[in-house]
Amino acid sequence: MNDSPSPHRLVFTDFDPADEKRREALCTLGNGYFATRGSVPEARADGVHCPGTYVAGCYNRLTSVVSGRELEHESLVNLPNWLPVTFRVDDGPWFELAGVELLAHEQELDLERGVLVRRARLRDSAGRITRMVQRRFVHMSRPHLAGLETTLVPESWSGTITFRCGLDGRVGNHGVARYEGLNGRHLVDIRGDEAGENLVVLHTRTSGSDIRVAEAASCRTFRNEVPLAGGGRTVHDEQAVFQEFTVDSNRLDEIRIEKLVALFTSRDSAIVEPVSEAVEAAREAEGFDELLSSHVAAWARLGHAFRCGLSTSAATRQAVRLHVFHLLQTVSPNTADLDVGVPARGLHGEAYRGHVFWDELFVLPTLTLRMPWVARALLRYRSRRLPQARLAARRAGLSGAMFPWQSGSNGREESQSWHLNPRSGRWPADHTHLQRHIGIAIAHNVWHYYQATDDEEFLAEQGAETILETTRFLASLANYERGSDRYTISGIVGPDEYHTGYPDRDSPGIDNNAYTNIMTAWLCRTALRTLGELDNARRAELTDQLDLDHSETDRWRHISRRMYVPFHDDGIISQFEGYDRLAELDWDDYRGRYGDISRLDRILEAEGDSPNRYRASKQADVLMLFYLLSAEELEQLLTTLGYTMPRDTIPRNIDYYLRRTSHGSTLSAVVHAWVLARANRAKALEFFDNVLAGDLHDVQRGTTAEGIHLAAMAGSIDLLQRCFAGIEIRDHTLVLNPLWPAELGALELAIRFRGHPIDITVTGRTATVRTAPGSRKSPIRCACGSRAVTLGPGETTVFSLEHAER
Ligand code: BGC
Repeated sequence: MNDSPSPHRLVFTDFDPADEKRREALCTLGNGYFATRGSVPEARADGVHCPGTYVAGCYNRLTSVVSGRELEHESLVNLPNWLPVTFRVDDGPWFELAGVELLAHEQELDLERGVLVRRARLRDSAGRITRMVQRRFVHMSRPHLAGLETTLVPESWSGTITFRCGLDGRVGNHGVARYEGLNGRHLVDIRGDEAGENLVVLHTRTSGSDIRVAEAASCRTFRNEVPLAGGGRTVHDEQAVFQEFTVDSNRLDEIRIEKLVALFTSRDSAIVEPVSEAVEAAREAEGFDELLSSHVAAWARLGHAFRCGLSTSAATRQAVRLHVFHLLQTVSPNTADLDVGVPARGLHGEAYRGHVFWDELFVLPTLTLRMPWVARALLRYRSRRLPQARLAARRAGLSGAMFPWQSGSNGREESQSWHLNPRSGRWPADHTHLQRHIGIAIAHNVWHYYQATDDEEFLAEQGAETILETTRFLASLANYERGSDRYTISGIVGPDEYHTGYPDRDSPGIDNNAYTNIMTAWLCRTALRTLGELDNARRAELTDQLDLDHSETDRWRHISRRMYVPFHDDGIISQFEGYDRLAELDWDDYRGRYGDISRLDRILEAEGDSPNRYRASKQADVLMLFYLLSAEELEQLLTTLGYTMPRDTIPRNIDYYLRRTSHGSTLSAVVHAWVLARANRAKALEFFDNVLAGDLHDVQRGTTAEGIHLAAMAGSIDLLQRCFAGIEIRDHTLVLNPLWPAELGALELAIRFRGHPIDITVTGRTATVRTAPGSRKSPIRCACGSRAVTLGPGETTVFSLEHAER
């Protein structure tokens, strides 16, 4: 358990085998380039431990045979384990947790410094008591380096200690029990060598993507801080390489071994090839303490840029800090130079195989207002994959760019076509890849990035093309029905993954998902606005290059006016056409029988039933509209489409879908907290607490062990920032509209806008904005309510809406 919540630390004061995998995920250390789970260094993958090291963007495809069918899957590859360090006393057995009596065992994740510390007291089978402290880091500003230090103090004995340290390639992708039937051996040609005194290297390559990977480790031993001479003995195991170092020790001596590791792959830039780079980097690495202090300094700089202080309970502050921490493990300044997207489960585990979904929609707002260049790199991951998306559209007989629902290496659709239901053991067909709204999310991200940064260059060179090609795709998906003079979109899946078809129809997909339709209208308008933002020369060039003529843009304009939106029950937007004809689910009955019904889809399938039959959603779908669009924007869109939706129907829509949602995705709580924030603060805070508890308390019971939920983590910061504090960029202006819940104390937030580092303090309906002194950038515009001011460097203004209407 997390016994003593400190805002700056996550502490586990015992060793609990049943909870170990969740702790490994929560104690993952990374730097945006690679991450390693917080497994104990002496462990190998077994029922209790699940070591994993993942390099961002390092994918491989494998074919497996499941129920007589061949399935190809692409996965983020679990790379050789660089952690192994164990020891023995005299001729005793090698240390492992199962072989000793644990007198004490504590793991502490230091969220301020990015250091994982393990403290233990052990009694071995000969009755000897040894104290052990291990510290590790994955370097934040030297992205290829990591360090692990082990200090032993013999409390009750004198003798020899032999350390065994190495690199272990005997790994596979076995982190998710549901995937056990699938082939998980991605690494081939694994080979370990001695590479110099106290230096070993292990190299391998991925079987299909042929990414060469090298890890090198150098070790040094110390007795009472005096470096010890003498090289290690190299021991080869099949697919692993170790070195052994023997040290004489008297009682209470401090015996220490430092292990510094370098990791390179052939995807890296500025290298010759990974092996020589890894060897050189490990050989030349400074000592553990020196590297640790530059790492801590890099973390401090990042922590400063991502400050998000709350004067509320330690537990809330800890969860918020943990979320910022894991966001930065996965995406950091090191990500800016990489060709990678936002993996839904971080670099923390193997769930969803490291795939990239629409989750960046929830992640980018936090990044864009702090590290816009990183946000831009993540958008480039998408624009670079336009050729694949165009190919996919063409193959589907459509035009433009059809981005995949699940993306990996080259942007091909990586969603699986069959999905194991662990409850029933069956592999029903999976049609969730029909979530064509993914393209809307990508275009939305590009547009909002542009709004927030004014990055005209990006819009002109890559962003506009992504928006236009996505619009072209969704417009080609839309069918004009002359009779009703409306556009419709059929055979797709909305954000709610429970509804992938109609109970009485053989072909998959549902029709006129309101979210997709309305957002397509939004997209068509945005595409036209995008064209208007380009200068004449670039617009002419791009329209020529894309062969985009007036008849096509006229059609977009027409779609933005005539898209069909299904409604039922007096002002309730139907999730999709025919939703209101589905049966009502007896929620109480299912809750009574199953308790946790968040994965209602699995429960129903196991009962031989299907969620397609019911008005029951996995996650926010219609309500996504209220999440992405302001009430004014939505009203305006619907009015242009010829529909009226009085404001007072919004709470009824929220209530209607809230009662029919099982929250089987962690994204659902983020969206519900958001949409309820202004109308039902207590309920919104309940959802917010749920978002904070998501991984820390593993609310989905078992999923955190397979990787954190990055979108929910980043979404919690966005809730504080955009939702409760009301901080947004609109029309080149930093706009504040705080409605801050007293329950959360006061907020102190750091953001960056147009090159200005800015501190914002919020309580109630008051916000203080301070720009840092020293910037040479032009002053910014800042507005709240009816008041707008211009702020230069080193200026402060206080806004208050205390007397404004709610
Ligand atoms: C949700 C998706 C989400 C994915 C990855 C699924 O459970 O339904 O909306 O993108 O998880 O986080």
